[in-house]
Amino acid sequence: MEIAEKIAKLKRERRAVILAHNYQIAEVQDAADFVGDSLELSIKASQTDAEVIVFCGVHFMAETAKILSPAKTVLLPDQNAGCPMADMITAEQLRGLKAEHPGAKVLCYVNTSAGVKAECDLCCTSANAVRMVEEVLKDAPEIIFIPDKYLAAFVTGKTGREFITWQGFCPTHARILPEHIEAARARHPGAAVMVHPECRPEVAALADIVISTGGMSRFAKETPAREIIVGTEPGIIHRLEKEIPDKIFHPVSEFVSCPNMKKTTLEKVLWSLEDMTHRIEVAEDIAARARRSIEAMLNVGR
Ligand code: 13P
Ligand code: SF4
Repeated sequence: MEIAEKIAKLKRERRAVILAHNYQIAEVQDAADFVGDSLELSIKASQTDAEVIVFCGVHFMAETAKILSPAKTVLLPDQNAGCPMADMITAEQLRGLKAEHPGAKVLCYVNTSAGVKAECDLCCTSANAVRMVEEVLKDAPEIIFIPDKYLAAFVTGKTGREFITWQGFCPTHARILPEHIEAARARHPGAAVMVHPECRPEVAALADIVISTGGMSRFAKETPAREIIVGTEPGIIHRLEKEIPDKIFHPVSEFVSCPNMKKTTLEKVLWSLEDMTHRIEVAEDIAARARRSIEAMLNVGR
């Protein structure tokens, strides 16, 4: 039996659902029940009636699923699949920042640990950060926005709000430089350029649109451009080519692979279901506080 067939059989037996982030390798995306961005995956995780969630992504995503569905078993196929940006701030460091700004509301990017989320008022993803600031936090006198300094700069550009920030960033997106955009435009004249808000501001300034990975799929369908330069982790190109076969997608550079997103393989998904590993657990006192900030986000919606 092929691995994919074994996974499908075990998935039925275990009453499991497989969620995969847009950056996962092609075979893992193809084995998934749902492929999406961080926000879409959180919504799916909160709504599924499966007993087991196999989360093909990185640790904070599986942790978010567990916080939203504490009674379910949440499995991360590779326990070392983390997010370096999420590791750039600890709960203790955030408590220190809060002590310096006692009147500030705290907005955290979903790319954070459960312990950090527990210290926040509101969570956001790159798909809804602008909305969270404009709608939920519009009357806040001061906002601490952690940990991504580039996402914060993007939201400042959209809303005019200044934030108390943290020096976090995504090492993968930081590798995209303005000269990569310029070279890609020169190679593909007329192509539209979309980049992720985790990119440097000087890169974002050169793009036609700055948008979450889920938003990229919508933009790619709507733009009249036939060719599109993709300024994010190239795993998403598999999904884009499947959904929009008549358009041509070019990775902005060959150096934008996220090593952690690539740790999940089809074999590891199978072993995860066979052995029911690696189980994600979050202490209930932390989970309860983190849940409030995630649910405050989900209540607003996209
Ligand atoms: P999205 O929410 O846009 O999928 O981004 C998640 C992520 O980790 C980007 O690096
Ligand atoms: Fe983290 Fe960047 Fe990888 Fe996303 S692409 S999981 S932010 S390291």
